Order: sequence, then C-alpha cells, then structure tokens
Amino acid sequence: MVEPKMNKLGILTLSLFTVIPGLFAVETPTMGWSSWNAYRVNISEDIIKKAADMVVELGLDKVGYVYINTDDGFFGGRDEKGNLKTHPKRFPNGLKGLVDHIHGLGLKAGIYSDGGENTCGSIWGGDTPGRGAGLYGHDTADCQLHFKDIGFDFIKVDYCGGTALELDERDRYSEIAAAIRATGREVRFNICRWAFPGVWGADIAESWRTTGDIRANWPSVRDIIAENLYLSPYARLGHYNDMDMLQVGRYVGEVKNPICKEDTGLTYVEEVTHFGMWCMLSSPLLIGCDVRALPLSTKELVTNPFLLAMNQNDLGVQGYVARREGEAYVLTKDADTRFGTARFVALYNAGDEVRDFKVSFADLDLEGPVQTFDLVERADVGVFERFLTASVPAHGTRFYRLDAARRVDRR
Ligand code: GLA
Repeated sequence: MVEPKMNKLGILTLSLFTVIPGLFAVETPTMGWSSWNAYRVNISEDIIKKAADMVVELGLDKVGYVYINTDDGFFGGRDEKGNLKTHPKRFPNGLKGLVDHIHGLGLKAGIYSDGGENTCGSIWGGDTPGRGAGLYGHDTADCQLHFKDIGFDFIKVDYCGGTALELDERDRYSEIAAAIRATGREVRFNICRWAFPGVWGADIAESWRTTGDIRANWPSVRDIIAENLYLSPYARLGHYNDMDMLQVGRYVGEVKNPICKEDTGLTYVEEVTHFGMWCMLSSPLLIGCDVRALPLSTKELVTNPFLLAMNQNDLGVQGYVARREGEAYVLTKDADTRFGTARFVALYNAGDEVRDFKVSFADLDLEGPVQTFDLVERADVGVFERFLTASVPAHGTRFYRLDAARRVDRR
C-alpha cells in the first residue's frame, strides 16, 4: 500500500485515489487483461475464468485492472437464423455464465468481433468457426446479444473481414458505434484497424489501435512507441491511442516454445520502457500474459502506483516529445493540473548504446528549484536548479515526476 506522500516543496506527489478503479468512471485509459497475446485463438471458458480469478487473487483489480477481455477464438459460426454461436469445444456453455462470473468478482467483461463477415482468426489463422461470424449484417442483433442479453462492457472491433469486403472504414465503424450506443449500455468501444484511423475515430470510440500487432521483442515495442510519439494531439479525456496489449511478463529472459515465433523476449530494462511508455503515452493497459505465471518483477512494474498515476491521469493528456537528439527522446506531460508546476518526464533511449541525458528545465517550461522523484525506483532523486541529468541504458527509459517552483506559461 502506498501512502500519499508530501515532497519537500509541500506538494502532494501521489494519492492512491488517482488509481482507485471507478473513481474516474469512463474517462481514464482502460486497464485489464486480454487473452490474445498469451493464448491466441486457443482460449476456453476455463482459461478466461481462471485469468479473472487470478487478477483478483493477485490484487490487480485493486489498482485498476478490471476489464477481462476475450479476444478472437470464441466464435462458433451462426445458426440458420443468423444467431451468433460460440465454439462448441472452447465455450460449450456460451458466454453468459462466464460474464456473470466476471461480474461476480466485481470486474468488467470485454468481447471481440470484426467489422466484416469473417474474423481475423478465420482469415489468417485457419480458425474456420470465425467465418461469417463478424458483425457485418448483424450489428443490431449482435449488439443486443453482447450488451443487453449477456452484459459485456467492452468490445474490440477488428477489421480483417472489413478489409476483405473493401468497406469504407469510417462508415462501417460509425454504423457499429451507433448500434452499440443504441443498446443504451455504457460500453467501451475499441477500433482495431492497425493505424490511426483519423479524427473521426476519436469521436466515436474510447480507443483505437494505432499499429499492427505487438510482439514480445524489442524492435516491435520500439516501433510502436515511434508510431505513437506524435499522436498526442488526438488523445483526450476518455479517448486514447491504443498501443496494443502488453507483452510484459511473457518472455523475460529465456524464451522456450513461444506461441508466436517472433516472441523472442524482452529484458527487464525493455519491460520498463514498454510499460512506462504505455503509461506516458496514455495507452490502455491490457495485461497479455498468463497471469498464473506473472513474474514478480513484472507484477511490481504493472502495479507501480507512480507509473499508474501517470497513465490514469484525469487530465486526459498524452505525453509529447519536448526534445529529441537522434535516438534520445525527452517526453513530458502535465501531472495534476494543466499548465501547473508538476510534470511527468521520460528520458527514453531508443538506441543500442548507453546514453547520458542533460535536460534543461527551461525546455520543460519549468523553473527551479525542482523536486525530482524517480517513478520506477519509487524514490526522491534530489532538488535541482536548472538541469536533470541521468545515464540511461540502451533501450531504457527513466521516468520522473517533477515538482517545480514555477511554470513558464508559453500560451
Ligand atoms: C488482429 C488484431 C489482434 C488480434 C487478432 C485476432 O491481428 O490486431 O490484436 O485481435 O487479430 O485474430
């Protein structure tokens, strides 16, 4: 349990209240667990239920991980009337009992579909029960089923089937959004078409995927960060760039029999960059590992209240690049109030060599003395007048909260 903490400038640096789920209702980025990275289509009622149980057992829900999302793999085609069926072996009892179980734990439940006729798993993974199981032609009936009858609280809508039909993305996703909203349920809608969709996406959805699929390897994480560094103008309270499900906790160190051959693993330093940058860039945080085998170091990372406070920030601002020199980036965003004296800062080294950073507070629109708190080390670093200096390992990032004497308002 982290206690609220006063720093030397007398500013409240963290309140646990910033990360208590539900307090900020729909506005902050979605946090939870999703089945795809660890299981792909090989899911089952049992796997999802156990994941939900583990989330509670590990106390992940207490820091905000409340959505339990079933991704591709549950489809079982449609009956002769067009009603959606579940996979006879993986979900023989349908989805209602599963959702009731998740809700019974005090959690929320998420589901998955496609804007076209056929699902991604059926097109790319040979998962034939996904054929004809997409939303196309079934928006109203499927939304009624998922949100009114079963009670799902979230939906990710993929677009492999939509691409195959050459549908207009804006029209198609707008139709789906209208069908979701027509149910009257408060449902979080995630657009998944692997690039920033355009500002229309930010108006109809709570989040939108900005890249192709993440893998558990450094180039994948680095490239996704690169794609998102300059998308901050499109994020706002309740509407976020989705950098994809987390790969932390899957393959730290040695990798044996990966489910996907590109999953060659992440070092701990890379995990810190991955998780911390998802926090700095206000992405949804969906844990994607087998939670029964969550490494302790990863658990500490994903429950770090200081990093979570940077993500679950009720200002709704995404971090932006304040300075860049080659592969060294300085990112920042406001902490407690817009244009206030508290800011979060990331010193991100995307390169393959260790790098010394020297950042002028003036470049962050701050004036000293500046109280500096390291979010990962969970410790005060010191009070500095003009510069923040740090050595950052290859692929590493240092994350800070700065509390300055004054803010230079450049508006
Ligand atoms: C696409 C999505 C992934 C996952 C799979 C499921 O590739 O981008 O996140 O949902 O489909 O088939």
